[in-house]
Amino acid sequence: MKVKLGIVGFGGMGKWHEKNAIRVKDVEIIAICDINLDKIVGVEEKGYDIYESADDMFAKADINTVLLTVPNHLHKELTIKAANAGLNIIDEKPAALNVKEFDEMMAAVQENKVFFTVHQNRRWDRDFRIVKKLVQEKELGEVFTIESNLHTANGRIHEWHLYKKYGGGMMYDWGVHLIDQAMQMMEGAKLLSVFADIKSIINDEVDDYFNVALKFDNGITYHIELGTYFLKYQPRWLAAGDRGTVYINTFACDGGIARTSELLNKLPAQIAETVAGPTRQFAPQPAGVLYDDPLPEVETEWTDFYKNVVAAINGQEEQLIKNSEVREVLSIMEAAFESSETNQAVLFS
Ligand SMILES: NC(=O)c1ccc[n+]([C@@H]2O[C@H](COP(=O)([O-])OP(=O)(O)OC[C@H]3O[C@@H](n4cnc5c(N)ncnc54)[C@H](O)[C@@H]3O)[C@@H](O)[C@H]2O)c1
Repeated sequence: MKVKLGIVGFGGMGKWHEKNAIRVKDVEIIAICDINLDKIVGVEEKGYDIYESADDMFAKADINTVLLTVPNHLHKELTIKAANAGLNIIDEKPAALNVKEFDEMMAAVQENKVFFTVHQNRRWDRDFRIVKKLVQEKELGEVFTIESNLHTANGRIHEWHLYKKYGGGMMYDWGVHLIDQAMQMMEGAKLLSVFADIKSIINDEVDDYFNVALKFDNGITYHIELGTYFLKYQPRWLAAGDRGTVYINTFACDGGIARTSELLNKLPAQIAETVAGPTRQFAPQPAGVLYDDPLPEVETEWTDFYKNVVAAINGQEEQLIKNSEVREVLSIMEAAFESSETNQAVLFS
């Protein structure tokens, strides 16, 4: 069966999907809806059916699947409406604003026996795939810490993202991706606790900074830090094990794996006088002791998301973005908000 798609919300992300979804065999875009018809520009010659109301589109368009690219507070309402209209659903992230909303959505999805998935596209990011491969294949030895950083100097957040009632803030915008990546990379390990600091630095209502520490039973603490007001950035990734440290500076995957031929067991015999004062532990390494290996190649193609949606709707593959995973990430986001409020770690059993 072809996925006959109707897109609801034709802003930034709706337009991006329109451009990219049609590259996939067996996905055909039939209709586009936006409450603001001025947004539906640039696709006039493509012959899509245009709607101003999602209710109308769900009732009248010749579609079997909807893609929800509307602001975050509308995901629940439109998912339930689409499910009740018997339509399969691809929801943008965050799937919902909390676990309670998500459970209500899943009840409608199950009752109507429709397909539901969430566009967690950052699982296909090359930088993430490289670190995941290195960690899971033990290329860094026993990993003890992972830092996933996202720093920008752009400061202010824009449009509806500025307001709580629309599901604004950076935890809903990017936190959901970064926590989803963490849970994918830590596959097989048990999450023990979440400790978080979430705050607003220069925006009035919503978070524009967060630091979340996820502690796992495999000995790894996974640190996620995002800020819109860093004027100097940490590397996007830094993950250290007892046989190497991977660093990736930016999404362009400039970085390497730092290794040593003398595995940290040869401290200089004498105390060295350094700028930091007398030290052996923190003395500089002799020349040639540290070297870099190149990052591994990884194959990753974002359109695999849509290919999997088509196959899963047709019962040929299991869906890649599982609803149980989506629910777990939402529960971790809730725990992070709670931890930040209470100044306590939230324990997971
Ligand atoms: N996966 C990703 O990488 C990624 C990236 C950006 C945004 N997103 C997600 O995509 C969604 C949309 O974000 P965006 O940046 O495109 O926002 P946007 O503001 O650019 O677009 C939203 C559009 O929805 C329309 N709209 C609002 N209410 C509507 C309704 N009831 N019916 C129909 N249309 C309606 C608006 O007029 C607007 O054109 C959000 O959930 C966001 O989190 C995902």
